[in-house]
Amino acid sequence: MSKPVLQIALDQTSLTDALNVTRRIAPHVDVLEAGTILCAAEGAPAVVSALRALYPGQTIVADLKVADAGSVIAEMVFSRGADWMTVICAAPLATMKSAKKVADAYGGDIQIELYGDWTFEQAADWLDAGITQAIYHRGRDAQAAGQTWGEEDLGKIRRLSEMGFAVSATGGLSPEDVHLFRGIPVKCFIAGRSLSEAEDPAAEAAAFRAAIDRYWS
Ligand code: 5RP
Repeated sequence: MSKPVLQIALDQTSLTDALNVTRRIAPHVDVLEAGTILCAAEGAPAVVSALRALYPGQTIVADLKVADAGSVIAEMVFSRGADWMTVICAAPLATMKSAKKVADAYGGDIQIELYGDWTFEQAADWLDAGITQAIYHRGRDAQAAGQTWGEEDLGKIRRLSEMGFAVSATGGLSPEDVHLFRGIPVKCFIAGRSLSEAEDPAAEAAAFRAAIDRYWS
């Protein structure tokens, strides 16, 4: 089982604040995410362009949770240097396919963002469409309402992985949560607030890595 990598979700409300965070954290993570909140605040093309210019060698995700106009939005971010873009699980298959076509043209990839209601039958259709990445998400608002990571979530991640998906996990994760996922092939742990709001983001990233090293050899 490969070792999970670490992704920072940049969910600041200004590009200046986000770049202040990346200055401190970029060398300590594998993937930089132009977060949904940041893209809404500053515009996805501007955010992706800025990250690509500053971090030419790093994997960059545009977390737009696209629901429609898949190819148009995909063109906006892949042409600016994004490697991956998220599409929401509730989007029609046609949207996923059109986004994937653009991603393929740029050598990029599409990730299906899993929130709320979706089925394993739909997941099989995503695989048939050539989409092999999914993100299992405990939403920010669900977390604030008290939703915790449970056996049901972990079982779904395991089943998606057995189907052939590379599954990333996100939603209020801290280094103390990593052990919950042991034995499950997680592609990427995605963390926003726990990294960016830490007094020492590099030390927090190191704590994530230590927890990953402990449970994935
Ligand atoms: C919100 C997101 C966040 O980027 C993701 O949940 C990670 O952030 P945090 O660790 O702060 O919850 O996609 O929609």
